[in-house]
Amino acid sequence: MAKYLVQKKAPLYGEVEISGSKNAVLPLMAAALLAGESCEIMSVPNLRDVEVMCALLKSLGAVVVENYEKNQISIATPADVAHEAPYELVKKMRASVLVMGPLLAKTGKARVPLPGGCAIGARPINLHLKGFQALGATVEKQHGFIEVSAAKLKGADVYLDFPSVGATENIMMAAVLAEGTSVIENVAQEPEIVDLANFLNKMGAKIKGAGTDTIKIEGVKSLKSCKHNVIPDRIETGTFMVAAAVTRGNVLIKNALPNHVKPVIAKLRECGVIIEFDDENILVRADERPLISTDIKTLPYPGFPTDMQPQFMALLTTVKGSAVVMETVFENRFMHVAELNQMGAGIQTEGRYALLQGERLLQGARVIATDLRAGAALVLAGLVAEGTTEISEVYHIERGYANLVDKLRNLGASISLSTNP
Ligand code: EPZ
Repeated sequence: MAKYLVQKKAPLYGEVEISGSKNAVLPLMAAALLAGESCEIMSVPNLRDVEVMCALLKSLGAVVVENYEKNQISIATPADVAHEAPYELVKKMRASVLVMGPLLAKTGKARVPLPGGCAIGARPINLHLKGFQALGATVEKQHGFIEVSAAKLKGADVYLDFPSVGATENIMMAAVLAEGTSVIENVAQEPEIVDLANFLNKMGAKIKGAGTDTIKIEGVKSLKSCKHNVIPDRIETGTFMVAAAVTRGNVLIKNALPNHVKPVIAKLRECGVIIEFDDENILVRADERPLISTDIKTLPYPGFPTDMQPQFMALLTTVKGSAVVMETVFENRFMHVAELNQMGAGIQTEGRYALLQGERLLQGARVIATDLRAGAALVLAGLVAEGTTEISEVYHIERGYANLVDKLRNLGASISLSTNP
């Protein structure tokens, strides 16, 4: 089984280029189902989750042409696209539920297996379904599947109890072909939402307000093809910023949008890291002064991203002082704590709070990547731990980081992929 072997070597130095965003490209690929003609998506990251989404679209009858060398994918959807998503694929990737909105809008029906929970939480989709019902769809749960259907979707007002990213994306994709106007309030404001709205508007949709807490959509009759560049991955950006900090290195991060990582910049600066940036590059200098601790509270965007919480924990175990980390978005996102504690981190948790003591001398150990970002945190801890850190179940990490091992090695890290049993 594949695993990463990580050793402490030296501070990271050099340049790294950020790939396209996983959490932006997946809804874009689902949205391409809405177009009558072929859509071209560029800057597509080479990730396992992208492969699963390609397989899902193909299983629905779409013609998908992948060119990973050029980071491009074209997606053409026939009028008679299928409406049922296969169990095997949905089980592999929760984001598969994002085909529900487009299929409902395009065919009047969508049938997907109940996604079930994952390592970080129960992750229900009640808000997605509530939005579909507001647009006039019926919802049925049978034999582990959810079926939503509507002869014709009608524009409506929707209020989200929580600014869910997935629910915002799914309801947007359903409402673009509905009859009349929809106003969706308390929506997610993440950059991935804005990227999806830009993509849909290029296809001829009429969406206003993406990036604010209210989105207004005027339904249209049909959508056409378009070409679109995916935004850079802000969580990959944040992960490399913290990698530079945890190793006390100096790294230039290219193809990164500073505006998308403001909370990460703010928190690293509170730790004493020097950060300079221009429109598309961020320079992280952590080799100039000792770092100190800071508290973290995760929140929906533009608050501190929950997808950066585990990586920041790895950093906070190494700096001067203690810290409190509060996770408000997911109810079970401390799976990495037990693994970091195997490495001597000494983190205590109570419900959604974690208490960290800094300046821990981490020790290499055999640890398990329990989910994508937890895995990234173990890699960062391994870069500063004495001895070898052996991380198993790295398929979790490869779901969301393109060429992580090579990118880190180019910055001087000692990390390798081992396939020995
Ligand atoms: C997206 O997940 C991201 N995934 C997640 O990134 C990210 O952690 C999350 O947004 C929050 O930023 C993708 O974009 C593919 P939510 P999503 O709906 O859409 C509750 C990563 O590491 N909720 O905003 O599933 C839910 O249980 C991944 O890249 C409901 O209760 O997140 C959670 O507690 C992990 N009912 C909270 O809202 C619903 O119907 C936020 O979930 C929907 C959500």
